[in-house]
Amino acid sequence: MATERIERIARVRERVAAAKRRGLRVGCVPTMGALHAAHTAMFDRAREECDLVVATIFVNPLQFDRPDDLRSYPRDIESDLIVCEHHGVDVAFVPAVAEMYPRPPAMTVEIEGLADGLCGASRPGHFRGVATVVLKLLNSVQPDIAYFGEKDYQQLAIVRRLAEDACLPVQIASVETVREPDGLALSSRNVLLGRAERASAPAIFHALQRARDAVESGQQDAGKVVAVARQVLDEEPLLKLDYLEIVDPDTLEPVRSIHGPVRIAAAASYGSTRLIDNIHAAPLKAR
Ligand code: PAJ
Repeated sequence: MATERIERIARVRERVAAAKRRGLRVGCVPTMGALHAAHTAMFDRAREECDLVVATIFVNPLQFDRPDDLRSYPRDIESDLIVCEHHGVDVAFVPAVAEMYPRPPAMTVEIEGLADGLCGASRPGHFRGVATVVLKLLNSVQPDIAYFGEKDYQQLAIVRRLAEDACLPVQIASVETVREPDGLALSSRNVLLGRAERASAPAIFHALQRARDAVESGQQDAGKVVAVARQVLDEEPLLKLDYLEIVDPDTLEPVRSIHGPVRIAAAASYGSTRLIDNIHAAPLKAR
């Protein structure tokens, strides 16, 4: 079946309501387009678990903290629609900016605490933009299940908290990070890397793996774990590290002494292209 392209909130709501009246389970995968194999893994998962699959494709201006980043964000709606079609997406909700924001919103969503550290520290307003648009998209589509990727771990935590605090009638499902064979996490931004940058970029994941190995071997001092990982990144002259941190997997608070499961998260830039990644780690006895 062809993917139906819908641009209006009222229309997507109607389409989903009609499906729900027939007892169908509706899954939604919010995206900003430039679809790659991680997005399609989410479509496939939604296809397995739901009767009607809605992808949203919307480059949300509110979550970009730099105008040049918004301008250079890759966009290719026609090939995105073909990808949707190949992966059994029933509906692509593709609103214009004026549909989502007919005027500057007087209501924005601030998730306290979770949005302060990691990427929140260097991207002011980013998670306010994410939480606001996710609330608007979920309220527009009204799915039973919404899928978010672990690659954006802080975003996932924030969306879970948003759903809880706003009593959204939606289940938030997480999807494991999808990687290139060399370990680099798939991202729409990877196409912006030059050849040498692309060759260097798997170092981010290698550093996280090195940190995880240290945690698994019993290193409890988070500072020492971070130092081990940084050694890997110090060998990459093109890479500028923004942060490499060990945090509590639920609160995202920094952990100094590791006695249980943690999340190790990193962000780094190549020129103006910023990449993020994260990994689960736990001392072997705490697993
Ligand atoms: P976007 O970057 O297009 O990502 C859409 C979804 O795909 C997010 O849930 C993201 O975590 C997931 N994803 C991206 N790369 C992934 C990878 N390598 N492995 C697993 N999942 C991956 O994230 C956004 O868009 C936006 O912030 C959005 C939530 C749509 C709000 O505008």
